[in-house]
Amino acid sequence: MKKRVFTAAQPSGHVHLGNYLGAFRQWASVQDDYDCIFGIVDLHAVTVYQDPEDLQKRTLEFAAILLACGIEPEKAHIMVQSMAPEHAELAWMLTCVTPIGWLQRMTQFKSKSEKQVEVTDGLLQYPVLMAADILLYNAAIVPVGDDQSQHLELTRDIAERFNRLYGETFVIPETKLPTVGARIMGLDDPTKKMSKSETGAGHAIGLLDAPEAARKKIMRATTDSQPHVDFDTMGPGVANLLTIHQALSGWSDEQVKGHFQGMRYGDLKKTVAETVVGFLEPFQERFRGFYSDRGELERTLHQGTEYARSIAADTIRITKRRMGLFS
Ligand code: TYM
Repeated sequence: MKKRVFTAAQPSGHVHLGNYLGAFRQWASVQDDYDCIFGIVDLHAVTVYQDPEDLQKRTLEFAAILLACGIEPEKAHIMVQSMAPEHAELAWMLTCVTPIGWLQRMTQFKSKSEKQVEVTDGLLQYPVLMAADILLYNAAIVPVGDDQSQHLELTRDIAERFNRLYGETFVIPETKLPTVGARIMGLDDPTKKMSKSETGAGHAIGLLDAPEAARKKIMRATTDSQPHVDFDTMGPGVANLLTIHQALSGWSDEQVKGHFQGMRYGDLKKTVAETVVGFLEPFQERFRGFYSDRGELERTLHQGTEYARSIAADTIRITKRRMGLFS
């Protein structure tokens, strides 16, 4: 039997190149070898306020983005978290074995809560819901970008604690990071990761950005005060541009070094921009094709969610029995 993969992303804000290189590309690459369930986690998105109409629209848009990334519904199941009530149900049970201190330590909670006037309980519980997403399907492998590593560690801690208290119930999942592109940085400030919630115009390359706008963002990306690429002394901005190029081109370390060592920054940016535009154009054409057939998108999400729920129902039954609850 194939091992199971579960992973997910929030349909919030503008999906960017970091999401693609750190996550979606890996999702597509594992679909032949694993039993894959990919979640669109809208219950996570509402931990901060979302315009309701916009959120629904983005969920469908997001499904079309995943298909354009090469995910094939014949091979992998795409599900919507809010359509499967088992996620919230398991989250509650896991909440009851999770010490608050574990949640208060999460770096994403700390940074997200700093930006809010009022911090909701949902924001604190966010990683428990994430643990529920994964444990519900007994996923063995979770492909994510590096920013989710701490949440995955917490998921393992929660699963181990539950298993200790109530007997072996959950598979302990493994984190899978991409070898290149696990943490793509912002173009305007390469000390910060590229993020959906950063609003600066030059920060992220949106997967749906007009190609010419993406080119301009790269040409304006922050580098450092040196005139050309030097692999021994380069700063994070140059390293980030090289990572983006390497991840999209598939070049080896030697090829990258051989090609770019000594290149002037202007030429480096032109080359990276060309590669990014070369990726975005056909990607967006595929996206438009999938997005134009709303009926088919909805069918894909319903079928994916139905498959997911058939597995989730078993986990809920077993977990409730272990805890002495009724099902
Ligand atoms: P989200 O929606 O922020 O991001 C989706 C995926 O993109 C990766 N990613 C990046 N990778 C490289 N560089 C970046 N700058 C970058 N920014 C984002 C993320 O690591 C992620 O893999 N909490 C999760 C969603 C989630 C989830 C889950 C993930 C909910 N339940 C269960 C895995 C398993 C999140 O907010 O991802």
